[in-house]
Amino acid sequence: MSSKKPSIFDLYQMKVRGEKIAWLTSYDFPTAQFAQAAGMEMLLVGDSLGMCVYGYNGTVPVTMDQCIVHTEAVRRGAPNCFVVGDMPLGSYQVSDEDAVFNAIRFLKEADVDAIKLEGGVRIASRIRAITDAGVSVIGHIGLTPQSSGQLGGHKAQGRTAETAKMVVEDAIAVQEAGAKMILVEAVPPEVTKYIWETLEIPVLSIGAGPHCDGQLLIVSDLIGQFQAFTPKFVKKYCNVAQLITDAMTAYVKEVKEVSFPDEDKYCYHMVEGEETKFLELMNK
Ligand code: KIV
Repeated sequence: MSSKKPSIFDLYQMKVRGEKIAWLTSYDFPTAQFAQAAGMEMLLVGDSLGMCVYGYNGTVPVTMDQCIVHTEAVRRGAPNCFVVGDMPLGSYQVSDEDAVFNAIRFLKEADVDAIKLEGGVRIASRIRAITDAGVSVIGHIGLTPQSSGQLGGHKAQGRTAETAKMVVEDAIAVQEAGAKMILVEAVPPEVTKYIWETLEIPVLSIGAGPHCDGQLLIVSDLIGQFQAFTPKFVKKYCNVAQLITDAMTAYVKEVKEVSFPDEDKYCYHMVEGEETKFLELMNK
């Protein structure tokens, strides 16, 4: 278990040493505890909670209030992880003022170490405004789920020379606007490598290959809990959905056949001699 929360400076030192950063999403207290015990440096309370926790079709309906509540729980579960709050759709698109207001909410109400927002060139002024207000920003480029409608769905980005150039321009804009790190999603490894070699800030990947400073995965994918779809870049490390369903099926069966609860094993018996007294009392 990490005994001290890494600072931005510690994460930069990891980049310098060539030590990879392990980053995972988390939406609740117990998962955050497990992630910290596993040695995770960073946690993202992603707006993917809309799909993974609330069962929405996408991230669009997720609100700031929902993000804050889940981020508070994760913070409590993982005091020694670098926790990142994810700005949901509507919390930063309208104006720099909105963006700063909501980023500060994350800091004051959920004690985050940084916030993440989606977009490159088009969102640079928001990154600058939030950074100037004293909140660390992590940029997110490539496949940006909040604008997946405009991108033609959840599709890999930068697969042609022209679109790869646009992804690189986004990456440069994010760094120049003052972001402390950048997350690249669903971009070919050749393009991520170029970005990694071009930028100075740490480059993290989700589905963007190994040439970078660390990886992010969605916890519900990693543990085999999310059922709706599995992107190509996801590696499932266990099948929690099967484990939970098996346990619940066994419980249903035992309830029906009254083999649970075993009276000696799972019950609180009356104090010795009290049952006779109790029955006498009831018969008065
Ligand atoms: O919300 C989230 O979990 C994210 C990841 C898809 C990067 O933004």
